[in-house]
Amino acid sequence: MPHDWPYPFWIAHRGAGRRAPENTLAAFREGAAHGFRMFECDVKLSADDVPFLLHDSDLERTTSGLGLAGERPWAALAQLDAGSWHGALHAGEPLPTLQAIARFVIANGLAVNLEIKPSPGVETRTGDFVARAALELWTGLQPPPLLSSFEVPALEAAAAAAPALPRALLLEELWAGWFETARRLSCRAVVTHHPLMDAALVQTLHAAGMRALVYTVNAPADLAAMRAAGVDGVITDEVERYAADARAAR
Ligand code: G3P
Ligand code: MG
Repeated sequence: MPHDWPYPFWIAHRGAGRRAPENTLAAFREGAAHGFRMFECDVKLSADDVPFLLHDSDLERTTSGLGLAGERPWAALAQLDAGSWHGALHAGEPLPTLQAIARFVIANGLAVNLEIKPSPGVETRTGDFVARAALELWTGLQPPPLLSSFEVPALEAAAAAAPALPRALLLEELWAGWFETARRLSCRAVVTHHPLMDAALVQTLHAAGMRALVYTVNAPADLAAMRAAGVDGVITDEVERYAADARAAR
């Protein structure tokens, strides 16, 4: 079994899943209010290299903007409404910088999994800048942010820029060479889409010194299967359903 894993079992997806606008400070507050101590969020770069939170490459779904987020400078992105799409109660909620999220997470003693979610074509640059920013923002603090990505070039850049920050390889499928890649990048964990994970895979990862995490586990039956498989953590949207579990696991 791998050791030295300072992170909680329960991880709120995109801040608080669907209860607040994803990847905003409002979502983190909602997740924390439901007892969650760790948060997954998606980090990309503005055109002028400011790391900020947004899942999609396009602005349409979750903001008042149009077009590619990565083509806008932060000054323009900061003007957008990232809350109204979710509901009027969140009207005016801004896109958060990674710095703003770090401030909240650190002040409240929370942990974070920063998914490096590059705009297409800037994978290496995003991994580099996000890792450097994370290193600076969390200097000397525990636990350090866990950096993850589906994009191998982004993880490679993060490893080069901040070798001491823990990394996780995200897998939507078990593509040829994933295990060797995770080992080569000295990943501390592998995070798979939950149907890919089973007891044998958990054992393989543990034997290699890596933790086994899964996304996005919402249904109780899926949670039971993942617990039976022996996973080390789950990323969930269901912060209300699992609030008591998250609190009990502290
Ligand atoms: O980090 C796990 C999970 O967030 C990956 O999927 O699309 O929600 O970023 P996605
Ligand atoms: Mg994500």
